[in-house]
Amino acid sequence: MCGIVGYLGHQQASPIIVEGLRRLEYRGYDSAGIATLAGGRIEIRRAQGKLINLENQLREKPVVGSLGIGHTRWATHGRPSEINAHPHKAGGIVVVHNGIIENYLDLKESLRARGHSFKSETDTEIISHLVEEHYKHSGDLVTAVRAALKEVRGAYAVAIICEQEPDKLVAAKLGSPLVVGQGQGENFVASDIPAMLSHTREMIFLEDGEMVIVDGTGLHFTDLVGNPVQKTPKTITWTPLMAEKGGYRHFMLKEIYEQPRALADTLAGRIREEQGDVYLEDLALSDEELGGVAKLNIVACGTSWHAALVGKFLIEKLARLPVEVDIASEFRYRDPIITPDTLTLLISQSGETADTLAGLREAKGKGGKVVAICNVLDSSIARESHGVIYTHAGPEIGVASTKAFTTQLVALVLFALKLARVRGLLDADGCRALTDELVKLPRKIEEALEQDEAIEEVARLYMNASDFLYLGRGNQYPIALEGALKLKEISYIHAEGYPAGEMKHGPIALIDENLPVVVLLPNNDTREKVISNMQEVRARAGKVIAVTDHDDPLVRDNADQVLVFPSTCDDLMPVILSVPMQLLAYHIAVLKGTDVDQPRNLAKSVTVE
Ligand code: F6R
Repeated sequence: MCGIVGYLGHQQASPIIVEGLRRLEYRGYDSAGIATLAGGRIEIRRAQGKLINLENQLREKPVVGSLGIGHTRWATHGRPSEINAHPHKAGGIVVVHNGIIENYLDLKESLRARGHSFKSETDTEIISHLVEEHYKHSGDLVTAVRAALKEVRGAYAVAIICEQEPDKLVAAKLGSPLVVGQGQGENFVASDIPAMLSHTREMIFLEDGEMVIVDGTGLHFTDLVGNPVQKTPKTITWTPLMAEKGGYRHFMLKEIYEQPRALADTLAGRIREEQGDVYLEDLALSDEELGGVAKLNIVACGTSWHAALVGKFLIEKLARLPVEVDIASEFRYRDPIITPDTLTLLISQSGETADTLAGLREAKGKGGKVVAICNVLDSSIARESHGVIYTHAGPEIGVASTKAFTTQLVALVLFALKLARVRGLLDADGCRALTDELVKLPRKIEEALEQDEAIEEVARLYMNASDFLYLGRGNQYPIALEGALKLKEISYIHAEGYPAGEMKHGPIALIDENLPVVVLLPNNDTREKVISNMQEVRARAGKVIAVTDHDDPLVRDNADQVLVFPSTCDDLMPVILSVPMQLLAYHIAVLKGTDVDQPRNLAKSVTVE
C-alpha cells in the first residue's frame, strides 16, 4: 500500500521526507516521489522503482524548502512509472494520495469536459484538478480541499500543498490510514508511525472523515465540513520495527488482521447494486466473448491453486460452465487442449510465478484467451494476459499468503457472478442476493478475528503433534488443503488436507490418540455426512477440532474442541473459514518459535521453475 509523508517545520523537508519514506518501505511500493515548496514554487522529483532512484535524482537536482510531501506508490490505477508516481500537480496544487477513488472515471470525464487535461493514468490526479478548480473559486486551500473531497467516492488519505499558501499542509482521511506527528516547532503527517518515530513519539491518529491543517501556528483538526475536532496526542513507546508491524508481532498476523480492509477494497466499485450485476473494469472481454466461452481452465500454484479449486465450485454452480483446474507446473507440460472457445484463468498473487507465467504462454500460444487474477499491477502475468481482475490486498510481506488468498476468493465470486449474468443463468435479483452477502463479508471477517484467543488455546493443546489432518467437503475441501499448507509452511508440522468422504479410503489408518483432525463443518447440505466423518475419527481415539458456523449438541458430542464463526451463504463460507486456518497455523508456529514471516526454504515469489 502507498506511503505518505508530509513535513512542515524549521528543517529542510527533503531529507526528513526521504527518511520517512524509507521507514514505510515495508508497505511495498514501485515508485516514489517528493514535492517541496520554496520561494512560492513547488519542485517535484519522481522516480520509478526503489527509493535509491529518487535519492539519485535528488542528488543531481536537489529540492529545498521546509514544507513538503512525499509518497511511495503501490500501483492500483495506472502502471508503475515515473509519470504515474505521486505527487501530482494541477495549477499550484500538489497532491499525494493513498487509497482508491471509485468514481474517478466519471470525475475525470467531467473535468475533461471543463477543459482539464491529465498527464497520468492515476485516480489521484483528478484530486489535484478538483482542488485546483475549487481553489479558483474560493482562493482558500482548506475550503477547496473540503469541496473537492465532497465529490470523491472511495477510500483516501491525502496530503496537499499549494504554491499560493506556502505555510500550509492539509491532510485528510477516509478509509486509509493517516497519523499526525507533533514535534517541537515542526509537525509531520504520515501513513504510519515509523515514518516519524525518529523525530517525535507524540502521535495523533486521524479518524475517518477528519482532516488536519498544519500551519505556522501548529495543528488544527476539523471534520470534512469544518467543525473543529478535539484530538489528544498519544505517546508511542514502540521500537521502529514494532512500529512497522503496526504493533503486531509478525507481518503475517498484521496481514491476517488486514483482511476486512483488503476484501472491502477488492469489492470497491465492482458491485452494481441497481443493475444487479458486477463490473470488472480491466477484464477486457466483451459480454459476447464471455458468453461464447465453452470451457474454463484455471491454472495456478500453491495457495493460489487452492483458490482455483474454490473457483471451480463457484463457477460451475453459478454459471454452469465446465471448469478444469490445473497446477501450473503440470499444465505447462501436459499439452492441454485449448480451442478458440476455451478461456484460461491464471491466478497469481505476485503475477511473477514462473510456472503460472509459462502456463499463460502455453494457453495463449495455442490461440486461447487468457485472463488473470493478480494482486500486483502491471506484473508479468497481468501484462501478458488479455484481461485482469486485480485483487486489492495491498503488498503481502509474510511469505505465507493470507489476505492475498481471501481476496482471490472474492475476485472469483465476482468473476463467477459476471459469467453467470452474461450466460443468462442468474437474474438481477439472484446476483443481488449474493452481492448483498459479499458486502457484509468484511464485517463478518472482523467478527471471525474475535475468535483469535480461542484459536490460540487450541494451538496450545496441539502444538506438539507431529501430524495433522484437515478435512472438508465440497468448497471446504480446498480450505482444508489451505489449512494444511499454512501449517506445513510456517510450523514445519506435517499436515494433509483431504476430502472428508475420502478419509476411509486410506488416511483413516493414520488415526490414533495423537492425531489432531481439523474438520471444516459449515451448516450446509453435507453437514450430517461430515459429522459422520467426525464420529469415524473419534471412534479411533483421534482428536476432533470442529470449525463451524453452527454450534449445537451434535457438534459438541462429536468434537474435542469447537470453534464457532459467523455464518454467510455457502458460496462465501470458504472465505470465513480461511481465517481459523490461518490463525491456527500462526499460533502453533509462534508457540514453536519458528520464523513465521520468513519460513525456511521458502520464497515469497517463485520466479524460477
Ligand atoms: C503459500 C504461498 C504459495 C503461493 C505460490 C504461488 O502460502 O504463498 O503457495 O501461493 O507460490 O504464488 P503466486 O500466487 O504469487 O503465483
